[in-house]
Amino acid sequence: MARVIAVTNQKGGVGKTTTCVNLAASLAATKRRVLLVDMDPQGNATMGSGVDKNAMELSGFDVLTKRAKPAEAVVTVSEAEFDLLPANGDLTAAEVELMNEIGREHRLRLALNTLRDNYDYILIDCPPSLNLLTVNALSAADSILIPMQCEYYALEGLAALMSTVEQIRETVNPDLQIEGILRTMYDPRNSLTLDVSGQLSEYFGDKVYRAVIPRNVRLAEAPSYGLPALKYDRASKGAIAYLALAGEMVRRHGSKKTATAVAV
Ligand SMILES: Nc1ncnc2c1ncn2[C@@H]1O[C@H](COP(=O)(O)OP(=O)(O)O)[C@@H](O)[C@H]1O
Ligand SMILES: [Mg+2]
Repeated sequence: MARVIAVTNQKGGVGKTTTCVNLAASLAATKRRVLLVDMDPQGNATMGSGVDKNAMELSGFDVLTKRAKPAEAVVTVSEAEFDLLPANGDLTAAEVELMNEIGREHRLRLALNTLRDNYDYILIDCPPSLNLLTVNALSAADSILIPMQCEYYALEGLAALMSTVEQIRETVNPDLQIEGILRTMYDPRNSLTLDVSGQLSEYFGDKVYRAVIPRNVRLAEAPSYGLPALKYDRASKGAIAYLALAGEMVRRHGSKKTATAVAV
């Protein structure tokens, strides 16, 4: 059954969408079955996966508002070998429509429950704000992956995010875990980067991934071709970094399984 991971950070521009598309492609490259769920009305993960957000028949909107079954709205991104539940601006309308519904926070969870058996990983790309779409993502998730840039204000944003996680645990999802912290647009020549990086490790310990994502122009270029970096330029530093992240993630889950087996 799939592990559901929401990629989230209330700050915009930290690499959430880039991480979703490239991690999805990298996990698929290691033969994992992956579904990427776009929960951002901007539809960047959809476009970055090569699906035209203005030309699709069904999307997350239809799923959240129960106009379509989840499996009907999922498309296969053949180029990158993962599945996608696409999104566009209609998601904002879904949010408005759900506002007065009972159980509005759990619509995505119920939808994903019907799909979980088909995948090893379900990644959810979140919008950069704490709205009903984000709450749906955090309610549906087993854990959150937090991409962050190692800059001064990042830590402030992280404190806000941790308080959100606490609120989510108290209300809609008591089991929500921290999957990991991912350092993005990483520049080791910058002393502030190393400073912030050190503080992250102090606070989050081994939740901080060893893999770091460097600033790499290929990662910024690839979405305009509707491709993950792995398919756009597989030798690029960005593509290799996301492959390393996927490897680390899979190993972590693998070793956890072994640990439980040993404990039993
Ligand atoms: N490691 C990176 N190196 C270079 N550019 C990046 C990197 N990660 C993200 N970007 C670029 O930075 C911008 C913001 O990234 P994005 O993934 O859209 O962030 P978010 O989804 O958190 O708003 C995009 O233009 C993206 O192409
Ligand atoms: Mg985004």
